[in-house]
Amino acid sequence: MSLKPSFRVAVLGATGMVGQWLVHLLDRHPWFRVVALTGSDRSIGRPYGEACRWLLSAPMPEWAARMIVQPTEPGFDAEIVISALPSDIAREVEPRFAAAGYLVASNASAYRMAADVPLVMPDVNFDHLGLLQRQRESRGWSGALVTNPNCTTTAAVLPLKALMPYGVQRVHLVSLQALSGAGYPGVPAVEIADNVLPYIPGEEEKLETEPRKLLGQLRDGKVEEAPVRLSAQTNRVPTLDGHLVCLSVELREPIGPEEAVKAMADYRPPEEVSDLPCAVAQPIVVRTEPDRPQPRLDRMVGGGMSVVVGRVQRCPVFTLKFVALTHNTIRGAAGAALFNAEAALRWMGQV
Ligand SMILES: NC(=O)c1ccc[n+]([C@@H]2O[C@H](COP(=O)([O-])OP(=O)(O)OC[C@H]3O[C@@H](n4cnc5c(N)ncnc54)[C@H](OP(=O)(O)O)[C@@H]3O)[C@@H](O)[C@H]2O)c1
Repeated sequence: MSLKPSFRVAVLGATGMVGQWLVHLLDRHPWFRVVALTGSDRSIGRPYGEACRWLLSAPMPEWAARMIVQPTEPGFDAEIVISALPSDIAREVEPRFAAAGYLVASNASAYRMAADVPLVMPDVNFDHLGLLQRQRESRGWSGALVTNPNCTTTAAVLPLKALMPYGVQRVHLVSLQALSGAGYPGVPAVEIADNVLPYIPGEEEKLETEPRKLLGQLRDGKVEEAPVRLSAQTNRVPTLDGHLVCLSVELREPIGPEEAVKAMADYRPPEEVSDLPCAVAQPIVVRTEPDRPQPRLDRMVGGGMSVVVGRVQRCPVFTLKFVALTHNTIRGAAGAALFNAEAALRWMGQV
């Protein structure tokens, strides 16, 4: 009988919104054991239970509450680092961890579009982890850096991946994004109650670029971006978790809603990742009721790792239109980074 894999993990930015989800998901992770939690100067030296304003409905794990928050510096007795740092801090810190030999799975946007850094959803483009070889050669790192996309991107990319065989040409997206996507403390209550904010800094650009890399092809150590044109408009709405995205998609082959529903519902992860702990058997779940998906009812499908699609219809302007929902802090952030760490270990032949 083979032994269960076992790896030590440090969580960078563990006191924040994504960091809390990481602590929660790692509490039950079959392979990963947390050995360090980090925060800013505000939190360093304090017990996590005091430093962290815990916002999840599940209780904070006792082991985490007792841990003393560490500075964000290499030196942990760990193989894996999961980063939930703000992007400007990640830009400076993450390469130092990769150079020091850690496998870094990052949520931050700092390196997502770097040519030698894999931007990965394992059930979309597991093979892009092939960039790690080039990364190690060009940067001289003994560790590695792999990134997951922006939370909203995850809602769009899974259904688009299922539609790629029909020639995705142009996509228009409008998002309705939950409050947790802004981190903690996030958007002031007086600005968002009874309101919608039609501006999320930097978000539209990410939605217009990241899917092209994720849906691209790895050739000769480079990702050739998919020739898909995207236009995005992003809105903050007063839901807590779950980003809803309305998409209109132009296809080269003008299939109807029935065929599109079948392509999405039948979409399966590549065999290499299907047995990883964060993988779900059905990455895209399609609802046929006219009023689904809804954030409150559907965000936890597949433990928060499935994207839920509904309202698949013919589009009078493009080819098809539909709505997609992602749990932004699980599939879009904490679960995404854990899935990437598992997939990178698989790529490296360690599991
Ligand atoms: N929220 C989402 O849905 C989502 C989705 C995808 C990606 N992301 C990305 O994930 C990252 C974390 O997002 P978040 O929403 O969790 O943000 P957040 O709630 O603002 O948390 C930020 C975390 O970083 C720590 N930190 C801040 N400055 C630091 C410094 N100088 N040195 C070390 N640690 C520092 C904070 O520690 P203290 O509490 O001790 O100050 C906290 O733990 C961001 O890059 C974000 O863009 C977020």
